[in-house]
Amino acid sequence: MSNKDAPSESSLEAKTRYYGHKLMECWRRSFEDLENFWSGVAENLSWYKRWDKVLEWNPPFAKWFVGGAINASYNVLDVNLKKGLKNKVAIFWEGEEGATRTLTYYQLWKEVNKFANVLKRLGIKKGDRVSIYLPMVPELPIAMLACARIGAIHSVVFSGFSASALADRINDAEAKLLITADGMYRRGKALSLKGTADEALSQTKTVEKVVLVRRAGIQDVPVTKGRDYWWDELMKEAEPYCEPEPMEATDPLFILYTSGTTGKPKGVVHSTGGYLVWVWATLKWAFNPQPDDIWWCTADIGWITGHSYVTYGPLLHGLTQIMYDGAPDYPAPDRWWEIVERYGVTAFYTAPTAIRMHMKFGEEWARKHDLSTLRILGSVGEPINPEAWKWYHDVIGNKRCPIIDTWWQTETGGFMISPAAGIDLVPLKPGSATFSLPGVQAEVVNEEGEPVKPFERGYLVILAPWPGMMMTLWRDPERYISTYWSKFQPNKKLEFKIQPPAIYYTGDYAMKDDEGYFWLMGRADDVIKVAGHRIGTAELESAFVSHPAVAEAAVVGKPDPVKGEAIVAFLILKLGHQASEDLKKELVMWIRKSIGPVATPDEIYFVQSLPKTRSGKIMRRVLKAVVSGGQLGDVTTLEDASSIEEAKMAVEMLKRAMEERR
Ligand code: WTA
Repeated sequence: MSNKDAPSESSLEAKTRYYGHKLMECWRRSFEDLENFWSGVAENLSWYKRWDKVLEWNPPFAKWFVGGAINASYNVLDVNLKKGLKNKVAIFWEGEEGATRTLTYYQLWKEVNKFANVLKRLGIKKGDRVSIYLPMVPELPIAMLACARIGAIHSVVFSGFSASALADRINDAEAKLLITADGMYRRGKALSLKGTADEALSQTKTVEKVVLVRRAGIQDVPVTKGRDYWWDELMKEAEPYCEPEPMEATDPLFILYTSGTTGKPKGVVHSTGGYLVWVWATLKWAFNPQPDDIWWCTADIGWITGHSYVTYGPLLHGLTQIMYDGAPDYPAPDRWWEIVERYGVTAFYTAPTAIRMHMKFGEEWARKHDLSTLRILGSVGEPINPEAWKWYHDVIGNKRCPIIDTWWQTETGGFMISPAAGIDLVPLKPGSATFSLPGVQAEVVNEEGEPVKPFERGYLVILAPWPGMMMTLWRDPERYISTYWSKFQPNKKLEFKIQPPAIYYTGDYAMKDDEGYFWLMGRADDVIKVAGHRIGTAELESAFVSHPAVAEAAVVGKPDPVKGEAIVAFLILKLGHQASEDLKKELVMWIRKSIGPVATPDEIYFVQSLPKTRSGKIMRRVLKAVVSGGQLGDVTTLEDASSIEEAKMAVEMLKRAMEERR
């Protein structure tokens, strides 16, 4: 997509200036005129009380819109009713089995108000945590917004997680209430959720009440008297109006657990004010939402993408959106395209893994449908390979729609690096997320924290706080500091737009090209992205070693043509246990049970030893090179020199072991 009118000057600066000068200007203002810039953005929302100060920055803790009071549910609902959107459709919902529901802004407002009153009746107060374990039904955003209305903190757990994963998250958040369903549909089958929830509840102490949504028509759902209540029965008796609670901008809106490199999942805490402003602004900048848009973000609300761009972002903008609860290829591979055609979807946002899956099905499935309503397409969750980018652009977008490749993370709250169709759309390059949005000072640095040259791979870092950044990790500020703000120290080679300086480590590899475009290159740490879902190797390893046959485990991601990465495990068995196909199957089931179907391993190898450093640390990078057929030399240089010989030997052993297995 080269631009014919591009300037001929070869200087980097000239080119950078050419590409999106409006964007550059906006970006510059976001730092040089911080107070005014962010005030201007935040004024698009409704505040009970205006902030006293835009930013209070005590690295690495930022407080945005200090002194401001706001309510999230009020902003996504009441404000839209006041703007005349009362009868506009907020959500077109569709279930896999074909059921449909339509909720106007008024209907959504009513449901949220009533459920907020239900929460109060169940004893939930401001600051209490509520765990939500639901499939993609309207009750999921309704429950989140009801929590937000009364100031309770929601913690949504993806319905593809297991009982023990759910229990861990409930326990860490000390949730008082759990909202779940009888079951859910997947590929035509009704699966029980309540059974899983009950198993989780047997491992938790804090949950006092459970609310059950009827979704899958499961018979004989076990109901514990005095603890479990049916959603519909509670709603029948609920009062119609609940006054929204004015929240401090810095009060937590939600906790969302995400995988890290070590230990248990981290409870990422997002603020109310900064988060809402960020989600509002980023959606506007990146996708330029229009009043007659039909927005469809295919992400499950159990992940951050669904929080920011299903529940909060589109509703803040008063958009009409599609919510689909089911598999993308059920009953046939054109299920999504059929939905796009039927509702006339205009803005479509999905993940590279889904695009690659549809590529595999073949373009005839998309060609069967009229996709001409689409005006803009988005991508998120993992690097999009140029081939998938082009297919998305040509086949789905019919070469008319820009591809908005948004790089961001659970921790960042919203988009960080992305084309900005709402400000100034720069010429796109397949596979590049282009430039950082206003308020985002991104840089690529080497191991010393110094900027790298164009086309050199380094670590992606953020050099200034932004409104959507997480506030901390739930009850673990030390881990917040050590995970994100300790890898690199400020140095003279870097310019910091906001003082005092501090460096946020994203955990990603990236490079910039000679025109300053960012190219994201995958995780630099031990996080795996399986079909866009974020899974920690540490969680998988501890799940493996909790099996009685396993002594040691090392888990790595292997490049996969559709899923991006697949999970590969190297296991050392305990004495007295024999490697066998049956044991492999058993271990796969074990993982599905301990973490969830989302973490199903693709390959398991039984080995005698694992490559380690002298200090006993497993060298996952070496294993990664082995499984991906990558260059070992490339990898060992990153490691402590003394371990290279050791690693080489171990790799040879692994290779032999793998060949024997084949
Ligand atoms: C990866 C998802 C390349 C990246 C919103 C990041 C991406 C992690 C992109 C966060 C993209 C997300 N291009 N990589 N456009 N978007 N990633 O927390 O590795 O589930 O660190 O948030 O996904 O995953 P998370």
